[in-house]
Amino acid sequence: MTTAVAAPLYAFHNGEFVEAAAVRLPLSTQALHYGTGVFEGIRAYAQEGPAKLAVFRLREHLERLERSAGTLRIQLPLSTEELTEVVLDLLRRNNSGGDTYIRPLAYKLALEPGTPFGVRLSGVSAQFTVTTVRMGSYVPSEGLRCKVSTVRRVPSVSVPSGAKITGTYANNALAVEEAHAEGCDDALMLGLDGNLTEASTSNVFVVGRDGSVATPPVTADILPGITRATAIELFEREFGTAVEERPVAAAELAEAEEVFTTGTGVEICPVTSIDHRKVGTGRAGAVTSKLRDVYDEVVRGRRPDYASWLTPVHSI
Ligand SMILES: Cc1ncc(COP(=O)(O)O)c(C=O)c1O
Repeated sequence: MTTAVAAPLYAFHNGEFVEAAAVRLPLSTQALHYGTGVFEGIRAYAQEGPAKLAVFRLREHLERLERSAGTLRIQLPLSTEELTEVVLDLLRRNNSGGDTYIRPLAYKLALEPGTPFGVRLSGVSAQFTVTTVRMGSYVPSEGLRCKVSTVRRVPSVSVPSGAKITGTYANNALAVEEAHAEGCDDALMLGLDGNLTEASTSNVFVVGRDGSVATPPVTADILPGITRATAIELFEREFGTAVEERPVAAAELAEAEEVFTTGTGVEICPVTSIDHRKVGTGRAGAVTSKLRDVYDEVVRGRRPDYASWLTPVHSI
């Protein structure tokens, strides 16, 4: 009798493809101490076409990674085109025929010779790693129960919110922890001005009783999500709805007919209650459901008019 041996999972680490489980980082890794890393979360979706898998908005994610890295003075080792090939190669090596989450991470590693001990960005080397993990939808299909957090979002004047910086996520983790302790799934975070910013790993949209759709502007200390931009474009092209990008007061959450979140991980997800009070009917609303259906069609490659958002992974 032969026993099937699970194929190793590969990572792209420090310029080469290696077994992910074999990667070791020194305890002195600077990003571990100071949160000085940047990352991306990208999804590849199973397709019905000739390519069994395609990556959604890969270019936009890699461009944001490069901008985030620039904020921390990290020079990525490869161009966007080269990184694209690395991601596709990694997916092939990991034989990811099903939905997969891709996590590029660029991080400060070690003090260069002559750099004195301390918190800093210059004079510190950086390293780059990409890993993948098989991952389908992970938020409850019936929607999220949210809490308006007492933990305020770190303002951009302190840490630029447009950059996806690892250290910033301590802020989000504290908010999530509070939400869980109060029997909720996720946190809605306010800015220092009391207006809505975003959820822990997603942007937030509010649908009014008059059918208007609003979301906080990029100046509201949010990460300008790629799914957020996708949702805004789908609203315009599919439903003729112009999304209002404007400050959203916390009080509007209680009045809203529908609230939903957008993010690579959560995709399009209804918020069914806020602070234990139902939003609208307490179930996914019509606007959210319509958007979710189109988004699903688009990411699965069933809408040729949006094919430019998908990078096919051939020969898996
Ligand atoms: C704090 C935060 N806001 C918003 C988002 C949504 O961004 P995107 O749609 O690009 O995944 C994420 C997820 O990356 C996030 O971590």
